[in-house]
Amino acid sequence: MYAGHIGGKMKKIVTIIGARPQFIKAAAVSRVIRRSYNEVLIHTGQHYDKNMSDNFLDELEIPYPDYHLNVGSGNPAKQTAHMMERIEEVLIKEKPDAVLVYGDTNSTLAGALAAVKIYIPIIHIEAGLRSFSKSMPEEINRVLTDHISTLLFCPTDAAVKNLQREGILKGVHKTGDVMCDTVMHYIHNMSSKKAEVFQHLEPLYTKATDLLDQWYLATIHRAENTDTINKLRIILDALESAESRVIFSVHPRIKEYVDILNEENQYKNICFVKPMGYKDMLFLTNNAVKVVTDSGGLQKESYIMKTPCVTIRNQTEWIETLEGNFNILAEVDKEDILNKLKIKPNIEKYTQYYGNGNAAEQICELIAKDV
Ligand code: UD1
Ligand code: UDP
Repeated sequence: MYAGHIGGKMKKIVTIIGARPQFIKAAAVSRVIRRSYNEVLIHTGQHYDKNMSDNFLDELEIPYPDYHLNVGSGNPAKQTAHMMERIEEVLIKEKPDAVLVYGDTNSTLAGALAAVKIYIPIIHIEAGLRSFSKSMPEEINRVLTDHISTLLFCPTDAAVKNLQREGILKGVHKTGDVMCDTVMHYIHNMSSKKAEVFQHLEPLYTKATDLLDQWYLATIHRAENTDTINKLRIILDALESAESRVIFSVHPRIKEYVDILNEENQYKNICFVKPMGYKDMLFLTNNAVKVVTDSGGLQKESYIMKTPCVTIRNQTEWIETLEGNFNILAEVDKEDILNKLKIKPNIEKYTQYYGNGNAAEQICELIAKDV
């Protein structure tokens, strides 16, 4: 008998995904977990546009979900409640040995709550991250999920310490980061021809995106930066004055505001493009002069690839990235953003904190001891 088997029968894990970063995390873990477990995949449908969802399943060879709940967008309580209702139905039918959730989205919390209410153990990957800002929906999701999980896989020492401070000691393991696994898996196989990557880009307002020699790469989607159009205007005004042209991947959350702000194509320095595929994104991040973002995943990927990043937020969960100025926080203020973009990182201060690409292997070995 080997890990994950009982009486010759494979044990069952239900994995819940739903938002873009979760597809990228699942790409690392599903591949490994399926060697020893019967993985049943639920896609909540939190993200549903082809280029926010299905394209990643295809590109990253994630098995097609066994259940697609098609929950879609909505106010937080309604969206989370819809997910919980439908996840519970699946859990009652499938009777898994554990439920696996990733990160801190509404899909994460819905999966965890549905499971704990019917006494199914929860495995939380990317546990222990904290911004210490209760006004972030993600902070609520991750704190609640951690407090009801049985196995908690932390990417870093800082995450383990955060859990210790909250009295969560049992079932906690530091394993490295599964997004780092995905970067390392695809970096050798990423789109390598610049011309091809630029050909794939789908500009929002002009026919073609010029083939650039150098570029900044930008994404913005956090509620705190997009709750008013004015904040987004300030960020775009800063990028308009940046030293290199900016490739801006437009998350659907901000599309309407960008349409209004760029109504007369006034942002000449910014190429607004539709959300792009993972490998193209990897190429553009790896070769960017700078990244400007508020994305958790992109801050970390920039750090892993040693591309300097300016994060437009008051705090970050990925505090290691701040060392040596590889990642610098900026306020929603044009001068502050432009000043922070001038700061150079100190390569001597660089430490690879996120593991060596085998976090998923470690996680699956540890799961096998308990599930
Ligand atoms: C969610 C997560 C956030 C994560 C982000 C990754 C929560 C609370 N937030 O934020 O932590 O960083 O995903 O991208 O779970 N929309 C579309 N098409 C889509 C998806 C979204 O048009 O495929 C639009 C809808 O108008 C929707 C809005 O984007 O209302 C926001 O989507 P939602 O999933 O609620 O939040 P995100 O901002 O994507
Ligand atoms: N990403 C992508 N294409 C894009 C923008 C982002 O593949 O056009 C990837 C990015 O490389 C990272 C992940 O999406 O792996 C981050 O997701 P997002 O910023 O939506 O969420 P967060 O990490 O902030 O929760």
